[in-house]
This record gives sequence, C-alpha cells and structure tokens, in this order.
Amino acid sequence: MFSRSSFTAALLVSASAVLPAQAVTLADAEASYQALQQFYNASIGLWIPSTGWWNSANCLTVIADLAMIDGGVKAQSESVFGNTFREAQLYNLQMQKVVGPDYLPRTYYGHHWPYFPQGWHRPDPHQTNGFLNSYYDDEGWWALAWIAAYDVTGNWQYLATAESIFEDMKAAAGTTPCGGLIWWDKSHTYVNAIANELFLDVAAHLANRGGNRATYYLSWAQKQWAAFKASGMINDQNTINDGLNITTCKNNGGTVWSYNQGVILGGLTELSKATRDSSYITTAKQIADAAIANLTVNGILHDVCEPDCGADGSQFKGVFARNLQILQQASPEARYATFLQDNANSIWANDREGQDELSLIWSGPFIQPANASTQSSAMDAIVGALATS
Ligand SMILES: *[C@@H]1O[C@H](CO)[C@@H](O)[C@H](O)[C@H]1NC(C)=O
Ligand SMILES: *[C@@H]1O[C@H](CO)[C@@H](O)[C@H](O)[C@H]1NC(C)=O
Ligand SMILES: *[C@@H]1O[C@H](CO)[C@@H](O)[C@H](O)[C@H]1NC(C)=O
Ligand SMILES: *[C@@H]1O[C@H](CO)[C@@H](O)[C@H](O)[C@H]1NC(C)=O
Repeated sequence: MFSRSSFTAALLVSASAVLPAQAVTLADAEASYQALQQFYNASIGLWIPSTGWWNSANCLTVIADLAMIDGGVKAQSESVFGNTFREAQLYNLQMQKVVGPDYLPRTYYGHHWPYFPQGWHRPDPHQTNGFLNSYYDDEGWWALAWIAAYDVTGNWQYLATAESIFEDMKAAAGTTPCGGLIWWDKSHTYVNAIANELFLDVAAHLANRGGNRATYYLSWAQKQWAAFKASGMINDQNTINDGLNITTCKNNGGTVWSYNQGVILGGLTELSKATRDSSYITTAKQIADAAIANLTVNGILHDVCEPDCGADGSQFKGVFARNLQILQQASPEARYATFLQDNANSIWANDREGQDELSLIWSGPFIQPANASTQSSAMDAIVGALATS
C-alpha cells in the first residue's frame, strides 16, 4: 500500500534520479501513441493480452482525445476505430470480476481458473453481444469510447452503438434496493460509484449529441445525478467512496479511487452544457479540488494501490486526468492547468523507458511492466495537458 511517509522517503532516496521536467509536446504524445499501438492486437481489435476488455475501451478513448487535438494522427485513429468496431464485438471476452476487501476490482479473463472451471472457448461470433457484457461499468466505458470516436469522425454508427449501450444500462435503473441507482453487475452483487457515474456520464454526453432524443437523455442524466447525489457516496470531504453497502444502502467507506473522482467531472460538465446551469460546474470543482487534495503528493496523482494496482487499478488515474481536461476546457482554472502540466511532465521525465513506454507511477520511478493500460492511462494526462495549454 502506498503511504505518504514511505513515499516521501522513497522520493528522497531517489531524488538525484528525478530529472527537471520539461513541458511535454505534441511529438511526445504521438510517440506515446505509437508505443500504445505496439500492444494493439489488430486481429481482435483489442489491446489484449497486454490489457483487458474495459481497459481497451479506455485505450480507444485516449486515441480519440489525441485525434481531437492532432490532425496528424486522425487518419490512423480512424482506422483503429474502424478495426476495433468490426473485430472487438466479435470477440466476446468472458470474464468474472471480483471486488476484494481493499475495494480494488480484479478482472479474471476466460483462461483463469477457478472462475472458468470448464475452461474457456471463444464463442460463436453470431452469439456474441456486441459491446454488452455482465458488468454495467464495462458497458459505460465502451459507450464513452464510441462517443469519443463519433466526436472525431462524425460516424453515426459509433453514436448509435453508444445509444444502444445506454438502453441496456438504463434497463437497470431503479432496480437496486438503493433508490434510482443501477447495479455494478448483472448478477446484482454490488451498487458502486463507478457504474453509476458512468451511467450519468453517458446520459449527459448523449444529451449534447442525441439530436431529437436530446431531451430524453437529459432527463435521464438529471434523474441519475439526483439519485447519485442522494446516495451518500459523496462523503463529507467531497471525495467519493467506492460504493454502498446494499443491506443498509449507506456509503461503505470504500477506497477513494482516482477514477471515481474523475468520471463525475465529465458527467457534471456535460450536464452543465446541456442545461446552461453553472451550478454543476461549481459542484464538479469542489470534487476536483477535494480529489487533488486527497490523492496527490507534490502535485502528482497517486492511487493508494501503488505499486500493486493489478490490471484494473493501473487504468484509474488517466480517467481522472481525462475528465479534468473536460472540466478545464469548459471552465478553466489555472490550478487545473498546472496540475495537468505537472503530471504530464513528470510522466515524461520520470516514468518513461525504452521506446517511450510509460508505467504506473507518475512521479517515477518507471516500474515493470508497462502495458496498454499504464500507457493509455499516462497518455490521458499528456493529452489533457496539451489540450488545455
Ligand atoms: C491476439 O489475440 C488472440 C486471441 O486472444 C491471441 O490468440 C493472439 O496471440 C493475440 N496476438 C498477439 C500478437 O498477441
Ligand atoms: C453492511 O452493513 C451490515 C449492517 O451494518 C453489516 O452487517 C454488513 O457486514 C455490511 N456489509 C458489508 C459488505 O460491509
Ligand atoms: C483521503 O481520504 C481518505 C478517505 O476519506 C482519508 O482516510 C485520508 O486520510 C485522506 N488522505 C489525505 C492525504 O487527505
Ligand atoms: C499492466 O501493468 C500494471 C502495472 O505495472 C500491472 O499491475 C498489470 O498487472 C499489468 N496488466 C497486465 C494485463 O499484465
């Protein structure tokens, strides 16, 4: 577990190795994109086995976010969107997710005993479920990825895919014992922040892109925000815990993960755009400030699982950076620009090795392995810094 004191000690010991950080450039972002694509498995349209299913949606999203600010990668990004759209939905990756006592989710993919004691076989492609699976958070990540690809390309198929994923998530609304919220999973074991924030975020994004259905999405986004706010998952310090105890419907005091402080910022910013009501921005800034106060050391973002965040926790911090970018573009603050710059510059100076591979700990040192998850997550901070500077 990461603790402030041991971390400070580690910093002092390695102080001589820490380079003065220079500002990252678009060329650096392009180099980190090429490094990410070393891990792309074109035959299945996913960054597997380097990382997992939901992480792959986050890889696609950061590529779209880079393409939004860099015409030089637009054509390449469009071919990645097209190939992923075709192939990934034929590859129905089966999995079982477990949330441990530390509230760190862990995904076990098909080949991992004991969750698949009968073994795993690639299913008949005609029986797959597109971008839907048994976990509402995974569905939300893919919906956001296709919205991001739509923003770059204007391809209506991507938007339609996000809309149909939204319908599947919506079917879960109000089915939990805890108000209007949705479940994390289709087997109804947990009501958590991430799935509920993603449902809000997808609805709010669609409210600004849904054409003649915009008001329908807006009313869902508003309803979901009301349910989330009433749920108690936002604590007295304005940080967001992992989820609810489904017996009591009270905040379970679970770990404050960076991604749970992130997705909400995008959702509230999109809600503010759709309604022209700036109070959503005010709330988003309270959450962003509380998160930065709670999760940074010397201005650099950390999750408490470092350095053992597993294949899921290694994705979290980029989600915060990406959503802070969305907030910052809508309502800039010098302190958020500085935060994104400092994190991006630190990654490039202290957390990079080999062919511009980026690893888990943004303050450094570089630790093995770097993979499509650590790479895409760090890229989110770099793209966020460039998009807001
Ligand atoms: C791509 O994924 C398939 C299916 O999981 C796997 O068999 C193959 O080895 C992967 N290719 C690479 C280059 O990793
Ligand atoms: C939920 O709360 C109940 C009642 O306080 C408690 O007995 C139970 O252990 C809690 N469940 C979890 C998963 O923490
Ligand atoms: C961060 O928040 C957690 C949970 O609210 C709290 O226990 C912890 O002391 C906070 N840490 C810092 C550095 O603010
Ligand atoms: C990716 O790297 C992270 C951080 O080094 C590690 O925790 C995770 O297990 C790796 N993911 C995979 C699928 O190997």
